[in-house]
Amino acid sequence: MSMKMREAQRKDCEGICLVEQESFSQPWTKDAVINELMNKDLTLYYVLEDEQGVIWGYAGLWHVLDEGQITNIALRKACRGRGYGELLLRLLMETAWERGCSVIFLEVRFSNLPALRLYRKLGYTVVSVRRQYYTQPMEDAYVMSCERKKYRWADR
Ligand SMILES: CC(C)(COP(=O)(O)OP(=O)(O)OC[C@H]1O[C@@H](n2cnc3c(N)ncnc32)[C@H](O)[C@@H]1OP(=O)(O)O)[C@@H](O)C(=O)NCCC(=O)NCCS
Repeated sequence: MSMKMREAQRKDCEGICLVEQESFSQPWTKDAVINELMNKDLTLYYVLEDEQGVIWGYAGLWHVLDEGQITNIALRKACRGRGYGELLLRLLMETAWERGCSVIFLEVRFSNLPALRLYRKLGYTVVSVRRQYYTQPMEDAYVMSCERKKYRWADR
């Protein structure tokens, strides 16, 4: 399957909702997704799409002054573990650096080992813990950050 990444548009909201439903116990509603996609001054969203226009994953970030905050990153189950999550996250982060971010934050469940490993690989470190941040199931979150100068670029 040949995949491409591109900036998300309003028409992608249903595809993004499917990814959400497959990935999280409390998926974003369609309205929440539309709000995110419409708020173009502050947000940056990318989708992973196949040649038939099916959305397989997405990643997003809020950009305020020189700080970024990853809102979500997720892939359909069948598409995980093939390098696409890393590609999406790198595209998002590298665009954020270009747009003037100097540090990017995110939250992640304590038990989410694939995501934790991905974030560490790209240069994120734990800065604090938010107790009982998640529900269904209740779980603590690590707050992680990556400064631009600590970002680990891909070997080319
Ligand atoms: C987290 C997620 C986005 C990663 O995307 P992915 O495409 O599966 O990951 P990739 O194939 O790009 O792998 C990149 C790195 O992630 C880590 N990783 C990915 N899957 C992993 C697994 N099953 N176990 C351990 N580490 C894993 C590894 O560090 C890997 O690098 P490596 O192959 O050099 O070891 C994806 O698994 C997902 O959608 N999960 C469900 C939603 C979610 O939890 N999102 C994060 C919310 S904070």
